[in-house]
Formats: sequence, C-alpha cells, structure tokens
Amino acid sequence: MNPVALEGPRLRFRELREDDIDALFAIYGSEVVTEHLSFDPRPLDSVVGVIASGIADRRVDPRTAYGLAVTLRTDSGLIGYARLTLEAHRAGQIGFALDPSVWGRGYGTETVQLLLQLGFDQLGLHRMWGARSPENAASSGAMSRNAMVEEARIRDHVFTHGAWRDSITHVILEDEWRAR
Ligand SMILES: CC(C)(COP(=O)(O)OP(=O)(O)OC[C@H]1O[C@@H](n2cnc3c(N)ncnc32)[C@H](O)[C@@H]1OP(=O)(O)O)[C@@H](O)C(=O)NCCC(=O)NCCS
Repeated sequence: MNPVALEGPRLRFRELREDDIDALFAIYGSEVVTEHLSFDPRPLDSVVGVIASGIADRRVDPRTAYGLAVTLRTDSGLIGYARLTLEAHRAGQIGFALDPSVWGRGYGTETVQLLLQLGFDQLGLHRMWGARSPENAASSGAMSRNAMVEEARIRDHVFTHGAWRDSITHVILEDEWRAR
C-alpha cells in the first residue's frame, strides 16, 4: 500500500507532508510527550529530518518503513505520528505518539488498531510488537486494548533522559489478530 491511506471510525492515516513540521514538532519537541519515549525532546531540525526521511522511505522498494501522519477523519491536520518498521520473518515494530491536546479520547487505541490493520491486513505480517517504558500506562492501555499481550522485559533497553531504562514488549500474532 503506497501511498498509505487508512481509515478507522474517527481517525485516518496518511503519508507525511512537508507542512506537517510544526504539528510534529509540537509532539516530538514536547517534554510531556517524550517523558516515556526512548529519546529526549527533539529539536526542530531533528523533526525536519523525521519528515524528510518519512517522505524518502516511500521511494524505497520494497518499502520497509512507514512513518505516517495520524489525522481526524474530519480534518487533514496532523494530530499524531504512527510508525511501522518491517523486520525479517514478516515481523513489524510499531511506535506512536499523539498531541497531548487529544489524549484520553481513545485515539491512541485507534492508532494502534490502524497500525495492526496496516501490518496484518495490508502488508501480510505474521508478528507485530511494540516496546514501552515500564511507567507508560497509557501506551500499555492502548496496546493491551488491541490484544497485544505483554511478552518480555528488555533490561537497559534504551539510554534516555540521562539514564538506562528497561522496556516492556507487547506482541500480537496474525492468528490472534484474525480471531479478535
Ligand atoms: C500513548 C498515547 C498514544 C495514548 O493515547 P490516548 O489517546 O490518550 O490513549 P487512549 O485514550 O486510547 O487510552 C488507552 C488506554 O490507556 C488508558 N490511559 C490513557 N492515559 C492514561 C494514563 N495517563 N494513565 C493510565 N492509563 C491511561 C486509557 O484509560 C485507556 O485504557 P482503557 O481502554 O482500559 O480505558 C499517548 O498517551 C501519547 O501520545 N503518549 C506519549 C507518547 C507515547 O508514550 N507513545 C507510546 C510509545 S510506546
């Protein structure tokens, strides 16, 4: 699926655009949003790089990385960023972050659902997983709501905010996705 265009009950995924920079910077440049992420708040030039590489990834054949804008169905402005990276053995890792102004409405859960739909239904993946901070209850909720079960603890997985941090991984297999 290239370009990606997916729709859930309230949200859409679309490809990134150059004019998404400010909206993505409001997310990735934020202390609040990155509190539990694997990196410190990103400066503007780093966000420009995320957009540029997301746009460039579309031209890679076969495509292995999907950095996508999350928008409302009713408005094409970016309210979140969703990422799917393909790995060997038909596996894929997901990542997601939303603007804090829209937290707490179920959009995180719908974003994970759309990522799983992209991976399993459009790209034929077998296994999809995500890694979160042990303290990240909202991420745990969004993945667990989509039947992504906790699988493991990776010790000292990332060095972030000045310290080593463990990750908890969540996973779902294709037959579990179909059985939902
Ligand atoms: C993770 C994130 C996308 C969740 O978005 P959201 O739209 O607020 O999530 P939802 O409204 O779908 O909530 C998902 C579940 O988590 C729960 N939840 C949400 N925020 C919570 C919080 N701060 N503490 C505890 N539980 C929380 C919700 O109640 C819900 O569970 P339920 O369905 O059992 O009621 C959002 O918090 C975010 O962008 N965080 C910063 C980036 C990040 O951590 N990304 C994940 C990286 S692994």
